[in-house]
This record gives sequence, C-alpha cells and structure tokens, in this order.
Amino acid sequence: MQGNKKKKEISIQPRVTEFLREAEKEISESSREIKIELPDQPEFFKTPVRFGAIPVDKLPLGCDKEQQYKKLYPQISLPFQQVEKISFGHPDLQPNRLIFGDNLHIMRMLPSNSIDLIYIDPPFFSGRNYNVIFGDQNEVRSFNDIWEGGMPGYLTWLNARLLEMKRLLKPTGSIYVHLDWHASHYVKVEMDKIFGYENFKNNIVWCYKTRQFSKRYFNKKHDDILFYTKTEDYPFNWNESGVLEQYSDSTISKYKLKDEKGYYRLCGRGIKGSPIKSAKDVDSKWEKTNPELVVRNYLAEGYAPSDYWNIDIVNQVAIERIGYPTQKPEELIRKIILASSKPGDVVADFFCGGGTTPAVAQKLGRRWIAGDISRIAVSVTRDRLLIELLSKDTKAIQQSLEKVPDISIEHWGVYEIPKLVELSNESFRNFVISAFNGRFSTEEGLIHGYKGGIPIFVGPSSQEEIITKKDVVAFAKEIVTKKSKHQGTMIAWAFAPSAKDAANKLAAAHAASIDFVKLELTPIESAKFSEHITSKNPEYRNLLKFILPPEVRVSTKRVGALEYEFDVTESVSLNPGGKIVNVQWDFNYDGERFVSTQGYSFIGMKNNKPILKAIYKFDQIGERRIACKVQDDEGGEKIYIFEMNLK
Ligand SMILES: C[S@@+](CC[C@H](N)C(=O)[O-])C[C@H]1O[C@@H](n2cnc3c(N)ncnc32)[C@H](O)[C@@H]1O
Repeated sequence: MQGNKKKKEISIQPRVTEFLREAEKEISESSREIKIELPDQPEFFKTPVRFGAIPVDKLPLGCDKEQQYKKLYPQISLPFQQVEKISFGHPDLQPNRLIFGDNLHIMRMLPSNSIDLIYIDPPFFSGRNYNVIFGDQNEVRSFNDIWEGGMPGYLTWLNARLLEMKRLLKPTGSIYVHLDWHASHYVKVEMDKIFGYENFKNNIVWCYKTRQFSKRYFNKKHDDILFYTKTEDYPFNWNESGVLEQYSDSTISKYKLKDEKGYYRLCGRGIKGSPIKSAKDVDSKWEKTNPELVVRNYLAEGYAPSDYWNIDIVNQVAIERIGYPTQKPEELIRKIILASSKPGDVVADFFCGGGTTPAVAQKLGRRWIAGDISRIAVSVTRDRLLIELLSKDTKAIQQSLEKVPDISIEHWGVYEIPKLVELSNESFRNFVISAFNGRFSTEEGLIHGYKGGIPIFVGPSSQEEIITKKDVVAFAKEIVTKKSKHQGTMIAWAFAPSAKDAANKLAAAHAASIDFVKLELTPIESAKFSEHITSKNPEYRNLLKFILPPEVRVSTKRVGALEYEFDVTESVSLNPGGKIVNVQWDFNYDGERFVSTQGYSFIGMKNNKPILKAIYKFDQIGERRIACKVQDDEGGEKIYIFEMNLK
C-alpha cells in the first residue's frame, strides 16, 4: 500500500510541476505591473544638512516602493458587462461610457495616456456621521473603506485612485480634485508627491452662499479645487468665453468699459482722457506704461480669470437641480472643461454622482467616461443625460444628436443575471472565463478555456439547461483523449444530481489512479467561483456578484383631477439582504426608451428611508403607458411597464 502511494506521488509530480509552472506564468502575466512614475522630490523637500537626519516622506501615504498600491489593494481583472447601449445612430463613433463599480479597479482596466481631463469630487473626509447618500450597499461599503483608519486611511484610499488617474491622463492632461477644508490641505501634500509640486497650478476657491451661521468662527463658505497638470505641456484656454470672468454691471457703468465695437477695456484710457469710441481713441502710450491694467480688445467678453469663483450652489429652486444631495453646479464644471479641454477631448469623472460632469461634457461636445459605485447614481446620471438630449422637439433632437456618440452603460463586478442569460453561448463562455480569470481556447470542442493549465468547460447561458451526467462524461473523455490531462473544471449556473454523482465517482477513481479525471463542478454564483478574488483580499468578497432585478409591485390611487399617487413600497429585492432604495418614473413611456419625467429621476430620502411614493398630475385624459424603474441596494434594477386609462 505504502509503496503504491509513493509510486503514485512520483508519477503525479511532473504534471503538478507543469500545472504550477503554467499557473505561475499566468499569474505573472495577468498581474504584470505597470509602475506609475512618481516625481523626483525637488530641492524644496531637502532638509538642511545641519539638522541631521530628519525623515521626510517622499512616497505618497500607503504607497509601497515596489508594488505601489497593488500591495494594499491587489489588482484583479474582471470583465465589463454592457447592460444598455443608448444609440444615437453613430455606431462609428467610440461610445461614451458610464460604468457602475469601484473606480480603483475600473481605472486599472483602462488604457494609460488616454484621458485629457479628469474632474473628481470624491466623498469628503468629514467625520463618522457623514451621510451616505443613498444607503446603497456598494456606497456604504466604499464609505467604510474610506473611513477605515481616519485621515491616513482616507488619504491612502484616495492616493491609490489618484495614482491611477495620473496613469490614465495623457501627457498633456489636467486633473481637478474637488475638496473642502476637511482634507484639502492633506490632499495637496499627497498630490504634490504624486503629480509633482511643480505641476500644481491652482487652488481654486469656489465661493458660495449658504444659510450656515456661526458666531464662533468665520462661516465656511468655500470649497477648494486642486488643479494639477501631468506635465508642463498642457492646454489652458483662459480666453475662452465661459472661462473669462464677467464684468459686473456696476463696473461697466462706472468705467464705461464697452467701446463701440462691443469690446471691453478695463482701465484703458482715451487720448487725453477723452472717451473711447474706437480703437484709435485709445491712449496707447498710457496702455504701454500700464500693461497690467489693460485688457486687450479680444477680451470682448470679460477679463482674465482668477482662482476664486463666485458661483451659486445648486439650491432648492435651481432649474438644473436633480435632487442629488452633493450635486455640483454646471457652471463650475463648465468653466473647468472649457479651460482645460477642447471639443472631442475625453473628459472623465470617476465619482460622477448625479452626473454633472458627463452632462456638461456632453453639452460641450467632449467625449466622456464616468462612473460611480452607487447603482442609483449611475441610473440618475443615465436619465439626466437622456432627459437633456431628448427634451427638445424631434427636429432639434435630430440636429443636436448629429455627432453624439452612443452611450454604453456597463457594470464591473456586479453582473445582471437577466442580461447574461440573453447572451449567445459563445459570448457567455467568454464572459465566464474572463470573470473566472482563465484563458480562452480557440479550439473546437468542449474545452472552452484553461486556468493554470486546467481545462475549463462552461455550460450554456440559459439557466434552464442544467449540466447532467452526459456533459460530465463527455468533458472528462475529451480531457483525457485530446489533452491527456487528468483534471478539469466545469462551470455552469447549476448541476443536476446525476452530474455531481458522476463527478464524485470520477474523483474517487482519480484518487486511486491518476489515469482518471478529477472534475471540479463550480456553480457560477458560488464562493468557489470568486475564490481567485477573495484569496487576494478578503475585503474583495463583494466585488464579484451576480444579481437579480427586484420584483416590482405598483399600486395607484387617484388623488385629484388627473392626479394620481403611485406607490412601489410593496416591491421586494430578490438579492440576499437587499432592500429597495430608489424608484424613477417615466409617465409618458414611448415603449422603447425609458426617460425619467423631469423631477422623477431621484425622489430622495425621508428620515433615512427612500421615498417610494410619487404624485403626478397628467395634462390630458386617455390611454397612457407608464414605466417605473426600481433599484435595490445590491445593484438590482427592473423596469416595470403598465397602462392606465386616465379619466
Ligand atoms: C460627492 S459625490 C459626487 C457628486 C457629483 N460631483 C455631482 O455633481 O453630482 C461622490 C460620489 O462618489 C461615489 N463613490 C464613493 N466611493 C466610490 C468608489 N470607490 N468608486 C466610485 N464611486 C465612488 C459616491 O457613490 C458618490 O456618488
């Protein structure tokens, strides 16, 4: 017996080493490090020799010399799932992308040097009672992650993302990071280490008015936006209309700045003090001696922009208000996009919230990429863009959509089962193999891929077809006869008891003699399927999920003439532990594209609970098709359509 065992071990050995070698090769290929260059710390950080050895932190907080942030946050690779493509009839143009998922991992999947401008407005480091906006589980998890370890935890969390953003920016790229007093000074120090002190351009101060009132200190009524460039070669369109600062009416009337051509002159003087009626009246001698006071003719619309901006917050009555609690004003983002990009450039916001950046980028003819970890934020952004693009009459829409690229809405890590089961078997296989971190096989037959040298079989996309004994036997045969291998992995939605039985028998036989096959049966939604991710970091257990749409139940009640109350409180999430967190309404559904009725894209929260009732007044009687889109806090979403006869 003993002797037999020994013999067996020896005969297995070459195969085991072969597997290990292949596995190692695969691992090192997949986690090929792209090290992002950090700037040399200039003289600025040098301590005087006479002070002796004073430690100076040259690396950003949490950054490992060799692996950078891949040590704390290991790299994982998962596929993108396209859940919707909104087409405007220009498939030849690269689509704009709206991505649901954790931005660190998403950014790691994007190509280097591909983005012209990044604006981000990350959650502020503002204390434990920071109000998570939606109570969306992904958002809550991200918040816990941000908070772990107080300020160092926050900075480490943000630095990992900033470093990726630096990689994504083109050499001519710019980045604006929106913060406030809670963390801006700390983040400035970190950004100097990541982007270089010399690449700091501005600390823009956004001044606003709020009702906040304190008698103990000066009221805090500004945010800080840190502006850095990747190199010294960057665009800055300071004289673009919309970037230039506007003269106030009182300045214009006081200094009579507008000449007859409509040009402004700030302190320009007419010859011998006479009024400026045309360019020839300008006292050029005076202008020469006061160059800093002269605004030249081409500044027809304003004067050189400064680093403090007076822009109103998006208050309760603002037209652009969508109800997203931390929504930033379009004017602010507009100024940034106009100053640091041109039409056709790629603008990105990886913390897009209610979608202000993609909405403005879209209006200004920029391409864009946006993302958020909250499913609600992604849905609100999608609706905001569509409302914007389709809210005119048909002809105007057609004209305005002439060069608008499609919008691709994608998920990373949280995958919609109903969309997966619609895929062709081939696309499904590719998706599953990539989510399992395997390699595709181009060969005909039942071996669809490999992982660590072990053949993989993927079942059909339909959940109705489960794997049986017949499939197990056929796969086992193919492995042995075609590949002379003795191990295999079968992945499918579900396995019949006969399949499990067959696999157990094969495994028992394999234990007795290597010539038999050991098959691992791995259901797609099992912990085993995502082991390659959780083994890298236990915190990653929520990164790979397969989710179902909620079950939507709507009740309606007439509350006035043509006025109805719509209620989805009875709807339920079908995902473990899930809760319904938002509902959007389209009260005039065209049967094709869900476009939220303005004001019904995010109804908000009351006492920390989502508002799932809405009242709507129709303008005429007749048949109406109504659609509502309901989201749960695990990322599930469902569109439910029904008809009403309004009397
Ligand atoms: C302050 S809000 C952005 C608001 C946005 N600028 C607007 O105008 O509506 C910050 C957003 O970051 C998102 N977020 C937090 N952690 C994230 C992560 N790890 N990946 C992607 N988005 C994240 C939150 O869900 C939230 O929507």
